Amino acid sequence: MLSIVILISGRGSNMEAILKARLPLDIRAVIANRPDAGGLQTAAAAGCATEVVDHTLFSSRDAFDNALAARIDHHRPDLIVLAGFMRILGRAFIERYPNKILNIHPSLLPAFPGLHTHRQALEAGVRIHGATVHIVTPELDAGPILAQVAVPVAADDDEDSLGARVLRQEHVIYPAVLRRLAENVTSIGETGVVLRGARRVEQLDASGEKLISL
Ligand code: GAR
Repeated sequence: MLSIVILISGRGSNMEAILKARLPLDIRAVIANRPDAGGLQTAAAAGCATEVVDHTLFSSRDAFDNALAARIDHHRPDLIVLAGFMRILGRAFIERYPNKILNIHPSLLPAFPGLHTHRQALEAGVRIHGATVHIVTPELDAGPILAQVAVPVAADDDEDSLGARVLRQEHVIYPAVLRRLAENVTSIGETGVVLRGARRVEQLDASGEKLISL
């Protein structure tokens, strides 16, 4: 069975959606970079092992990355799943786990990388916004796209209403991608996880309920 470690920074609603989906995955631990991350309690209540690697206790980004890598390596996961993990990871960390780190980003990448994606979308006047699940590479929010979900922008949207609409779809698409990986990984080796159809693009069907592959 594919094994994962989930990294969070805050409330952990994407992590919760993954846990609730009861995927055929071995979730070895949920690790937060902040001791007050609300998702830690949710994970513990669901029976997951939880850990904290508090980034404020480290004098440099590399020192934090190394401590985080040590905790991850202890669990020997096949994949590292970033779910609202808001620390930028250094090149050395990312290159240590080639093709093994996944992230969900609240925009249709390559549009609106970085922070405040819903504000960026409203300011740009786009009519379609969304979320992207991608493989993490050293360039921020630029790795190969595994799946995207489109979300309409309403005329009266503000950041909160648009963000809430996107988040509901994040909770659909991330578990769906992980299910695909859990069921389709063909091998796991030095160069990471080898997938069938790694660049598959997905969208919601007309009912808005079901993911379909393109
Ligand atoms: C989610 O919207 C996620 O896409 C975003 O942070 C939120 C975390 O919510 N992640 C990023 O912006 C990563 N750059 P959650 O803690 O409730 O899952």
